[in-house]
Amino acid sequence: MTATDQSLQQADREVFDAVRREERRQSEGLELIASENYTSAAVLEAAGTVLTNKYAEGYPGRRYYGGCEFVDEVENLARERLKQLFGAEHVNVQPHAGSQANMAAYMSVLQPGDTILTMDLAHGGHLTHGMSLNFSGKLYRVVHYGVRADDHRIDFDQVARLAKEQRPKMIVAGASAYPREIDHAKFAEIAKEAGALLMVDMAHYSGLVAGGVHNSPVPHADFVTTTTHKTLRGPRSGVVMCREAFAKDVDKTVFPGLQGGPLMHIIAAKAVCFGEALRPSFKDYARQVVANAQTLAETLTAGGVKLASGGTDNHLMLCDVTSIGLTGKIAEQALDRAGITVNKNMIPYDARKPLDPSGIRIGSAALTTRGMRESDMQRVAAWILSVLKSPDDAAGIDRVRGEIAEFTKSFPVPGIDEPTAG
Ligand SMILES: Cc1ncc(COP(=O)(O)O)c(C=O)c1O
Repeated sequence: MTATDQSLQQADREVFDAVRREERRQSEGLELIASENYTSAAVLEAAGTVLTNKYAEGYPGRRYYGGCEFVDEVENLARERLKQLFGAEHVNVQPHAGSQANMAAYMSVLQPGDTILTMDLAHGGHLTHGMSLNFSGKLYRVVHYGVRADDHRIDFDQVARLAKEQRPKMIVAGASAYPREIDHAKFAEIAKEAGALLMVDMAHYSGLVAGGVHNSPVPHADFVTTTTHKTLRGPRSGVVMCREAFAKDVDKTVFPGLQGGPLMHIIAAKAVCFGEALRPSFKDYARQVVANAQTLAETLTAGGVKLASGGTDNHLMLCDVTSIGLTGKIAEQALDRAGITVNKNMIPYDARKPLDPSGIRIGSAALTTRGMRESDMQRVAAWILSVLKSPDDAAGIDRVRGEIAEFTKSFPVPGIDEPTAG
């Protein structure tokens, strides 16, 4: 065997061992980060193929490199499946990630200094929706809308008023931490009235749209972007969809505007993911994601935890842990010690700071992939409540960690056969 034929285990023990430890962490714990999921073994396999070796600048049939006939097949499959999945007029599957997809949509029609109207990060928006340190906040004049103080729902009166007063070139809908269904038709109506373009970043809930449990932005928006690794359950990446009128601008902006060679192995994994999302079983998955989130939300509420907006329509919820005397940071750390992974998060109108906010964000997509259902969510919520009610009880937390490690044995993670000690 030559050096290049060695397995990872033989070639690089340090990386191999770290990967094994991560496999064990993913298997033995409860993954509740709302932006994460477990891909299928087929998606993982596609992402680990020799397609990583191939340069393919350009688009199928129009490449700047020879030898692209097979990667062309793969990219065409990804494009056709994505079009079919969401009914989009045009798609570009090359963006490396969600941030690049958003950058591509913006840069295909906006000039530096143009105004965009987007959701406030502190109310659930994303960094690429105009945060001051992000390219979007540096390049564009950003105006934010938010949620109402009383019910934490998007304040459409404010969106309409700002659209009229500020005349944005583009309105951006979509969020990273908004637990309610987004009314895309309403956004489209306001954008039309104001003469603005509409972009929807459905990164978080695209799997729910694909599964038919969230209304689709595609008929309403000029541009729709998404990551592929959240509820859509694909590899870590992004895509842009748009109306035919913007097809050339989007393609030119992605390549050569923003990127060089596409990640063909990841495009292959996206093609597999879109194929999976087209199957009827994905509808069952999406329905179960929402049912599981609702059970978690109800059980946590019954246990005394206050939820932003009072509940959830989608895969995530925002828990105000100050309602039980904690901060987001303390809650995240205590849960982490028990093998429950969440992230601290600002809640709307938070009086605390981002590094130690009032809330935690919890999502159901990953546990649903492992096959958990409503009754399992009740157990999960009971463990969360037990840790949050006694965050300093080391023995209690150890006991919960052990129970979870035992419980998760019945719910294998796709692509991880048998976690081994590392
Ligand atoms: C709404 C939204 N848009 C875009 C992104 C960016 O995706 P990525 O991390 O792949 O750049 C995220 C990631 O969390 C997101 O939540």
